[in-house]
Amino acid sequence: MSRYGEFPGTRPRRLRTTPAMRRLVAETRLNPAEFILPLFVREGISDPVPVSSMPGVVQHTRDTLRKAVAEAAEAGVGGVMLFGVPEVKDAVGSSGTDPDGILQVAIRDVVDEVGDALVVMSDLCLDEFTDHGHCGVLDAEGRVDNDATLERYAEMARVQADAGVHVVGASGMMDGQVGVIRDALDEIGRQDVAILGYTVKYASAFYGPFREAVNSSLKGDRKTYQQDPANLRESMRELALDLAEGADMVMVKPALPYLDVLTRVADSVDVPVAAYQISGEYAMVEAAAANGWIDRERTILETLTSIRRAGANMILTYWATEVAQRL
Ligand code: PBG
Repeated sequence: MSRYGEFPGTRPRRLRTTPAMRRLVAETRLNPAEFILPLFVREGISDPVPVSSMPGVVQHTRDTLRKAVAEAAEAGVGGVMLFGVPEVKDAVGSSGTDPDGILQVAIRDVVDEVGDALVVMSDLCLDEFTDHGHCGVLDAEGRVDNDATLERYAEMARVQADAGVHVVGASGMMDGQVGVIRDALDEIGRQDVAILGYTVKYASAFYGPFREAVNSSLKGDRKTYQQDPANLRESMRELALDLAEGADMVMVKPALPYLDVLTRVADSVDVPVAAYQISGEYAMVEAAAANGWIDRERTILETLTSIRRAGANMILTYWATEVAQRL
């Protein structure tokens, strides 16, 4: 109780009175430079194909991909993350290491289009390219073979670097992947290519719409290599390993259901920390908004602000260009 008797002496509401006051005292601000736009490019199509579970997101043609990246750069977005969807998939994901494979072709297109105007990143993982949909190659018993997969990742790193990528996103969750990719890049004299480690990556149900976006034929799940949502200590172990192996940046994924993990990671490292607002997080907001149940624009900004507040330096979000234009 205050010296005024029954009235409060301290009034936090004073700092919430007007939009100008709220803007002045805001502790977290969003900046387009810290957004990374994930983009899908599909081989062999002449028109973009909508991803039905992600309204507003498409599988791009090579042409529309160039336009999307130019538009993102124009809006001030900091980077793009490219995913390739090949026409033909096989057991070892051959097109992922083919210099003329769709992802390599797309990297060349994008670098040609925007140069250094934004940072060009690529997904370094096999699931987009394998016919079984797993992030690695399988052994005779059908299990994901860690070390055989590492050899494939090393090859992917080399062809993606040759195509001109600035940062490779090591997203497959194989043990030792960051170290093997670093060695592969260094061996071909590409010390300049950075590695974004998908350090903390949970086996999440929120990846659902992504499977449609990359025409995945995965049956089952990725629980033998992605992490159990129940665990946090395990994430700190993954973090220590990725840093020791040479990750230049680390990522927490998904974002919104794992803000506690994000804060722990952000508080304990001195490298940039990214968070990936994934397909299912996007789909939930779009679906609720389409039904008129939530205010779409406010919800998007609130989720991004929360991810930022929790400690992310960079956010991968399918809304990157739209929000950048709005800010
Ligand atoms: C792996 C990869 C996935 C996503 C990004 N990279 C799928 C997975 O690991 O299951 C998901 C992104 C999203 O859901 O938006 N190549």
